[in-house]
This record gives sequence, C-alpha cells and structure tokens, in this order.
Amino acid sequence: MDTSPSKKLVEMRDIVKSFPGVLANDHVNFTLYRGEIHALLGENGAGKTTLMNILYGLYRPDEGKILVRGKPVKIGSPADALHLGIGMVHQHFKLIPPHTVVENVILGLKSPRFKLDVGRAAHEISDLASRYGWKINPFARIWQLSAGEKQMVEILKVLYHGADILILDEPTSVLTPQETRGLFESLKKMREEGKGIVFITHKLEEVFAVGNRVTVMRKGRVVATMSMEKATREELARLMVGRPVLFRLEKESVEPGRPVLQLEDVHALGEKGVPALRGITLIVREREVLGIAGVTGNGQLELAEVATGLRKVTHGRVVVDGVDVTNKGPRAFIEKGIAYIPAERQREGLVIGMNVAENLVLRYYRYEPFSRRAVINWRMVDENAEKLVRKFEIVTPNVRETTRHLSGGNQQKVVVARELGGRPGGKTPRLVVAMYPTRGLDVGATEYVRKTLLRYREMGSAIFLVSEDLEEIFQLSDRIAVIFEGQIMGVVRPSETSYEEVGLMMAGAKRLEEIPA
Ligand SMILES: Nc1ncnc2c1ncn2[C@@H]1O[C@H](COP(=O)(O)OP(=O)(O)OP(=O)(O)O)[C@@H](O)[C@H]1O
Ligand SMILES: [Mg+2]
Repeated sequence: MDTSPSKKLVEMRDIVKSFPGVLANDHVNFTLYRGEIHALLGENGAGKTTLMNILYGLYRPDEGKILVRGKPVKIGSPADALHLGIGMVHQHFKLIPPHTVVENVILGLKSPRFKLDVGRAAHEISDLASRYGWKINPFARIWQLSAGEKQMVEILKVLYHGADILILDEPTSVLTPQETRGLFESLKKMREEGKGIVFITHKLEEVFAVGNRVTVMRKGRVVATMSMEKATREELARLMVGRPVLFRLEKESVEPGRPVLQLEDVHALGEKGVPALRGITLIVREREVLGIAGVTGNGQLELAEVATGLRKVTHGRVVVDGVDVTNKGPRAFIEKGIAYIPAERQREGLVIGMNVAENLVLRYYRYEPFSRRAVINWRMVDENAEKLVRKFEIVTPNVRETTRHLSGGNQQKVVVARELGGRPGGKTPRLVVAMYPTRGLDVGATEYVRKTLLRYREMGSAIFLVSEDLEEIFQLSDRIAVIFEGQIMGVVRPSETSYEEVGLMMAGAKRLEEIPA
C-alpha cells in the first residue's frame, strides 16, 4: 500500500464531538489512503459511528479539520459528502421498503440524470452489480430482499453516485458467512480500483481477512493505528477493551434435566405465506444449550417465533414445561418464563423512541413489581434500569436517554439485558430463545453475554440459540440442530462433528444417524 501524501483521500485532524453528557470523539486523527481498506475497531460506544457520521456530513464536529484529497472541506450534509465522493452504508439500513431497488438507488440524486430514464438507470445498476460479482433485479421491491441483498443495494447506491470513499458501518453483522466472503471479494476489487474503504467491524478475523491498516478507538479516542502485518488478535482485543480477552470459554459439564421446550412435528408459514417450517421436532432441556445452525432464511426466524408464541403453527404441538401452549399467544409464553432476544433489535427488540429505562421493562411492565393494579411503579422501573445498566455496562449518559441515541451495540445490550436480567423479581428464565445474541457487540460484551448464557444453563435454564456464527454455536451448544429449508437435517454434538460436516448439513445434506435427545 502506497502511503505517500498524494495518496491521501481523507484526513481528519483533531476531531472533537460531544453530545449532552458524552464526549464521543476526543481529538481524533484519522487518515484514509487510496487503495486501502482501513478497519475501524473499538468497543461499543467508542465513537466509531460518530466519527464516520461526521465524515458523511450527518454531524458537524465541534472542533477539528477535514481534508479530502488534500483540500480543507466543510461537509454540511450527506449531499455534500456524496459530492466529494464520500458514501456511507449504515449499521441500520435506510432504504424505503415499498420502493424498488432502482428507485432507492436513484433517490436523492438531484442531477438532471434523475429526469430520467428509469430503464437506463436499471441497466446501469445491473452493470455496476455484475462488475462486483453481484446479481440483483433492479425492479425488485426492497421488502422482498434478504438482508444481504439490501446491503448490496445500499452499496450500489453509493457507488452509483460515484463515490470512491466508502464507509461501511458493520456491514457483515447481517450477512451470512457466504455473503461476507462475497462482500470481501467486492471490496478487494474496489481497493484495486483505487477506492478507499473504511470498514467498521467487531470481528477480528474479518479485520485480518481484508484490512490493510487498523485504527482502534476507545472511549472517544484513537489508541492505535497500525498496519495489519504488525497486528495480532490478542493485541487488538487488549487495545479495544483495555484488558486481555479470553477467546476460550469455560464450560462446565452438567447433566441436562427435564424437557422445557418440546416442538412436535411443527409446521408454520413464513412472512410471504409459504411454508417455512415443515415438520420440526426438537426438545430443549434444563441445563442444556441447543444450537440451531443454518444459513439465514431457512426457517430460523419462524422457529424462534414459534418457540416464543409470536407465530402460529399450522400443524403440530408446542409444549412448555409439560403444558400445551400451542397457539396460545406471546403473553402465555412470557408468563411461562420465556425470554426472547430477537434478531432485529430496531424492529422487534426495542421501541427506539422510548428511553432506556422503559425499554428495559418493555415486555414485563405489566407484572409486579413494575406495576400493581395497572399502575406503573416508576421508581422500580428506574431502579431496575440502573441495575441493568451497571451489570451489562450499557454506555448511556443516564437511564432516561432515548434509546435512539445509543450506539448500535449498546442498543443490543439493552435488549440482552432486559431478556437475560430484567425478568420481574430477578427470576432466571426457564427458556432463553436467543437469536444472534452477540450481533453488533464488541469482544468484551460478547464474552459477557456468552458467559451469562452459560451461567443460566448451569442454573437450570434451557437455552435455544440461533446463530450463524459456527464458532459461537460450537462453543456454547451441547447439541447442534441443523436447519435447512424448514427441516432439521440432523442433530449432532459439537465434540463429535466438525465445521465441515455442519456446513454440509447447512447446505441440505441429511445426517442419517440421530443422537438421542
Ligand atoms: N445523536 C446522538 N445523541 C446523543 N448521543 C449520541 C448520539 N450519537 C452518538 N451518541 C453517543 O456517542 C457515543 C459514541 O457512539 P457511537 O455510535 O459513535 O459508538 P460506536 O463506536 O459506533 O459503538 P457501536 O460499536 O456500539 O456501534 C455513545 O456514547 C453514544 O451514546
Ligand atoms: Mg456504531
């Protein structure tokens, strides 16, 4: 990589940005070169998104200077940023669901090209996509797309506007491993073309897979910038968290107890009215983690929703602690002690406009001690919030902060804290249904959540873990069930299988021998 001054695309100098009660960026220096993938790492709330929002014109810095291609600039809006060739894809997508791909891509394009010729734009978008090895139907509507495809559209939008400075904020957190590999290939192609890419992630192996250099932020400051040749996993983790991070989990061997959740020949329909679950039979017992491995979109969401009463089954039975709760609705499941960490925090996990304390009792406010005779006891709500914020290290100025103002990872921590620690009376859940529970969490918080899940397992909870991260599945699970097109391809023990075998089953290979439940 060429780091001569003429290759500097962006230089941010001494950037300061504060919000009420928070110093989000504290004299930050950051440089991006042509032909570079620059990884940006740091704990949840470290200030990564804020720094990039400044570069993208969403926030004005309180102090500091920005140079783009050597020239000092003022970036007052995303339109200014795009004009300077800077594009950003956010942690939470900003596409408009009822519109088509082509409409979303050309949206906000003020140039006369807009007058337009949608047909031509569609053509250009297809061309652009195929240049990076993607396939997309320009006339598909956004709501019909998978998370991976939506992200592709976001990136295409930025490229279509001619950006050569690309900011990707945790792009891989919603991608399948295959999609992630595809994205990396495209990013490398862009790098070869001389584009500069800022890549925010919490996954260290990804930093090593594509990064040229890495910058680590901590509590609003840059603590190191280095080339990847000089970096090690341990060193980066330590820089981020300020202490060494264990990459191994201690897992006690415990005997599973009685069945908590039993699914018997369950069938259910998916969002689009097509069969999503086709005869699923599974048991999760006390003191046991059942991992569900599979490529996203093979029925995991529907399975988790059936297990939490949010989705009706069209056939079969759902039994919790020996009681038939088939199609009894989510309240019956909550009252049975089922905690649920949903996949999409901003859509299903939180009410983003409400404050942290309110979100921390969201599913439980109607029960004692949070309310009595339908009157909410705000003192208890606040006490509960203070306790959980401390325990889960949620970074927020106070418990009355609007959840929207929290960093992405801290929003996730609010959901996890409520479900794992926020049940009325501090009771341990009977069953935890956890979908991608560590999505968007930094290495320290990931470690904490995994430990907490294992602690509950030891205390007697049943854990139903859906994850795409095979490492996570293997580390935590006692048994792994592999789902493919709404059916279970087999159930295996992590010690008696391999990533390869599970990978094959995820692609639809059925395992003939079954292990006893
Ligand atoms: N619009 C806002 N209003 C108030 N506070 C904000 C706002 N945006 C960010 N913050 C605060 O600034 C700090 C840095 O947040 P930022 O989103 O930059 O973190 P991050 O490094 O991207 O974290 P994560 O890994 O969790 O996404 C946090 O404490 C956050 O609460
Ligand atoms: Mg962020």
